[in-house]
Amino acid sequence: MRVIGGTGFVVLALGAAAAAHVSERGATQTGSLDGLYSLVKRRIPSHSDSFHFDLVPDDGALDTFTLSDVDSYGQGNAHINIQCSLVSACARGTLLNTVVSTSGGLVLGSIDDLPDKLPSIGAPVTHSSLVKYRYFFNTVTFSYTTTFYTFQDWELLLDWMALRGVNLPLAWVGYEYILVQVFREAGLSDSNIYNFFSGPPFQAFNRFGNIQGSWGGELSIQWVEDQFELQKQLIPRMVELGMTPVMPSFTGFVPPALSELHPNAAIIVGGQWENFPSAYTNVSFLEPFDPLFSTLQKSFISKQAAAYGNVSHIYTLDQYNENNPSSNNASYLQSISSNTFASLRAADPDAVWMMQGWMFFSSQAFWTTDLVQAYLGGVPGNDSLIILDLYSEAQPQWERLDAYYGKNWIWCQLHDYGGNMGFEGNLVNITEAPLNALAAARSSMVGMGLTPEGLEGNEIVYDILLDQAWSSTPIDQTSYISSWVSRRYNVDNLPQAAVDAWQLLASTVYNNQNPSAQATVKSILELAPALTGLVNRTGHHPTLLFYDTNTTIVPALQMLINATQESQELRTIPEFQYDLVDVTRQLLANRFIDIYENLVHVYNSSSTDVTAVELAARPLLGLIQDLDRLLSMNSHFLLSNWLDAARSWSHGNETYAAYLEYTARNQITLWGPTGQINDYASKQWSGLVGGYYPARWQAFVKYLVESKQNSSYDAATVAKMMLSIGEEWDNRNAGGSGGTTGDPLEIVRALAADYTGLSGSPAE
Ligand SMILES: *[C@@H]1O[C@H](CO)[C@@H](O)[C@H](O)[C@H]1NC(C)=O
Ligand SMILES: *[C@@H]1O[C@H](CO)[C@@H](O)[C@H](O)[C@H]1NC(C)=O
Ligand SMILES: *[C@@H]1O[C@H](CO)[C@@H](O)[C@H](O)[C@H]1NC(C)=O
Ligand SMILES: *[C@@H]1O[C@H](CO)[C@@H](O)[C@H](O)[C@H]1NC(C)=O
Ligand SMILES: *[C@@H]1O[C@H](CO)[C@@H](O)[C@H](O)[C@H]1NC(C)=O
Ligand SMILES: *[C@@H]1O[C@H](CO)[C@@H](O)[C@H](O)[C@H]1NC(C)=O
Ligand SMILES: *[C@@H]1O[C@H](CO)[C@@H](O)[C@H](O)[C@H]1NC(C)=O
Ligand SMILES: *[C@@H]1O[C@H](CO)[C@@H](O)[C@H](O)[C@H]1NC(C)=O
Ligand SMILES: *[C@@H]1O[C@H](CO)[C@@H](O)[C@H](O)[C@H]1NC(C)=O
Ligand SMILES: *[C@@H]1O[C@H](CO)[C@@H](O)[C@H](O)[C@H]1NC(C)=O
Ligand SMILES: *[C@@H]1O[C@H](CO)[C@@H](O)[C@H](O)[C@H]1NC(C)=O
Repeated sequence: MRVIGGTGFVVLALGAAAAAHVSERGATQTGSLDGLYSLVKRRIPSHSDSFHFDLVPDDGALDTFTLSDVDSYGQGNAHINIQCSLVSACARGTLLNTVVSTSGGLVLGSIDDLPDKLPSIGAPVTHSSLVKYRYFFNTVTFSYTTTFYTFQDWELLLDWMALRGVNLPLAWVGYEYILVQVFREAGLSDSNIYNFFSGPPFQAFNRFGNIQGSWGGELSIQWVEDQFELQKQLIPRMVELGMTPVMPSFTGFVPPALSELHPNAAIIVGGQWENFPSAYTNVSFLEPFDPLFSTLQKSFISKQAAAYGNVSHIYTLDQYNENNPSSNNASYLQSISSNTFASLRAADPDAVWMMQGWMFFSSQAFWTTDLVQAYLGGVPGNDSLIILDLYSEAQPQWERLDAYYGKNWIWCQLHDYGGNMGFEGNLVNITEAPLNALAAARSSMVGMGLTPEGLEGNEIVYDILLDQAWSSTPIDQTSYISSWVSRRYNVDNLPQAAVDAWQLLASTVYNNQNPSAQATVKSILELAPALTGLVNRTGHHPTLLFYDTNTTIVPALQMLINATQESQELRTIPEFQYDLVDVTRQLLANRFIDIYENLVHVYNSSSTDVTAVELAARPLLGLIQDLDRLLSMNSHFLLSNWLDAARSWSHGNETYAAYLEYTARNQITLWGPTGQINDYASKQWSGLVGGYYPARWQAFVKYLVESKQNSSYDAATVAKMMLSIGEEWDNRNAGGSGGTTGDPLEIVRALAADYTGLSGSPAE
């Protein structure tokens, strides 16, 4: 998902934000609605006086808001009253049906184009959330998406979240600043400390104890200080939007030098993560039963509270993410968790521990039910822990683990790995499954949330889950899609073809029934070329297309193009422009598979005709250039966004800018000094598609031709060649080049004609 500023916000969502505002009985409940009035001013300036918020606290458990006409309240210039309280009740019927049937076009209006006089609501409409928490973020989203965000970028994302009722976001920014103070206090030198930290786009994995250190240069003090300044803006903003930030804590992962300073401390060396050499992994872990752990925890939490205030009692703390415990002794694990929790409570008497439950799926062989029960059981009480059931839409663990034995947990949609791009989703699953879970585990399921590794496209699956959190029956897909498209595009006389395109996508690419290829499907054109192993991958990084392009993407694209014939206005809508490019992108990405498979087939056939190989390769290289040109037409698909954002933190220091750029390039390509998780976070961005992938595919084709002459294909040689192309590209330090301006429609039409393989352009 990419937040495309402006449109798509609804009055209904404002109500959700207002309700979220009063939902946090946790820490500091200011009771002020100023943040919501500011939100309206920021996002709906033309109607900054139109809304009146009314806070009527209640002792109910769930968030409720009521929309009504102001007349009945007699409030000044405002037209719409949004009253929020805490009455525990469930909305009847789907959210959308209620809204559509009670308020005509109003709530569907895009906020930057609302009519001058807002239509009336009529009979007041009340909505209640099903769950106490609407959660947002994965620890690694802070690496794959928000690493280089400025406050303005954050502001837009936080507004998007607030308008959808999110009230529990993770807040990792600036973590290292506090940690530096804690480590200094423990006697470590700055050089020991900074040697331990990882580069900006890799910090999440350092925080998880997967990696340590930075390749391509050392993390600078400047970065740590700048992020701290940013967090000082983010925390109050989250609070004023009614959110409870989930704050970091001391995890136990420490610089190796701490063992020398404290030779008797229980510090063990953790395992290897992926293929990283041990200097970058095997992270030292201070065992929580050592008294030093509690000392450092208290130091961390008090310094953090001094810096940002006592804004939250919920702390994120993960010790075993893709990093198995050193022992499978149940009483050992129980002592780890009980001491960890005790350290939090010693620092904050109301502390609640939040953990990501990814390991219970990814390391299922280790985490038997007995061990999970022992580990969770070390924490007393059921409300002291919140487990994120991280991948509920495809690999839920709450059933296997008996609803976490009564501990609080949140149903989460993971959906995306590494900020990869590709249409995917299962709307039935994310509307019905959370309700089924709630029915089955009513007492311990306390929230619904989003835990994507990265945010790129597929906004529909994020919207619908956050909407489902306000509807006690499964959202009706057909009517939801119609409403969603009309508020997304918000034009007069929306062409039916645009709605039809989305209905088709919703029932196909957003109806993924293949259990072995869940999560965003990435394109093989982003992978290091090879003769085997690229297509039809399943599991963690699927490349298997679970739908037939010819009957889904192709007609959907034609419908979108048809829609532009009916509405000129539609062509100017940013969301529409994004979707038009996105659907065309998917068409080309999918066609690449066919061309590649043909190339392999030609190469493998007994003929030694190199011309045939060259001919078969030509459309492959042509497609990459076509795709790059397409992507360059939309500002959301540019490599330069990522690289320029990285460099923008350099304070004009060229050495520092080069380091930041290197880390930004490395994450989306080699991911590690020598391709440790090569292409994991690959992207379809103009500049990367046209500036990196062709170098690899050209080299591959050249190799195929030569090896045909020499009669030998050696996979290791190809892999080595690809690595050196990656190393060269990562070190380019050339900044980004901007996109192309202009209407992408002509290019989209031409590509649609070239790549659908059907006769005639639909534009004719
Ligand atoms: C790193 O961890 C692996 C186990 O994952 C282990 O085999 C290796 O010996 C460790 N290396 C060091 C230097 O501790
Ligand atoms: C936070 O709360 C603690 C007590 O739990 C208190 O000692 C401290 O002064 C508070 N800090 C701030 C910044 O309010
Ligand atoms: C498990 O660990 C506990 C201490 O945490 C120890 O007393 C016990 O002997 C261990 N059990 C085994 C089988 O190693
Ligand atoms: C926690 O939940 C479990 C399962 O519902 C229940 O058996 C147990 O009594 C609860 N514990 C507390 C302290 O409420
Ligand atoms: C959700 O997906 C999982 C795994 O693909 C499947 O087992 C489950 O039945 C689905 N649930 C619904 C309600 O579609
Ligand atoms: C990939 O799957 C498709 C559809 O099942 C099949 O036609 C194709 O041969 C497969 N390709 C490879 C290399 O397995
Ligand atoms: C697009 O419009 C043309 C002309 O009206 C029509 O023939 C065609 O079926 C439409 N395409 C789709 C996929 O609806
Ligand atoms: C092409 O040949 C390689 C061996 O050189 C083999 O591994 C691969 O399966 C073949 N692919 C196809 C699609 O025939
Ligand atoms: C520029 O950045 C580099 C790398 O972070 C740093 O070593 C150097 O001191 C900085 N130079 C200045 C003038 O700040
Ligand atoms: C093919 O042979 C030529 C001449 O010996 C050599 O330069 C080239 O590297 C070889 N290519 C491959 C792919 O083996
Ligand atoms: C999809 O359409 C293309 C172009 O017409 C055609 O070559 C291909 O065989 C079709 N694929 C399937 C699975 O029908």
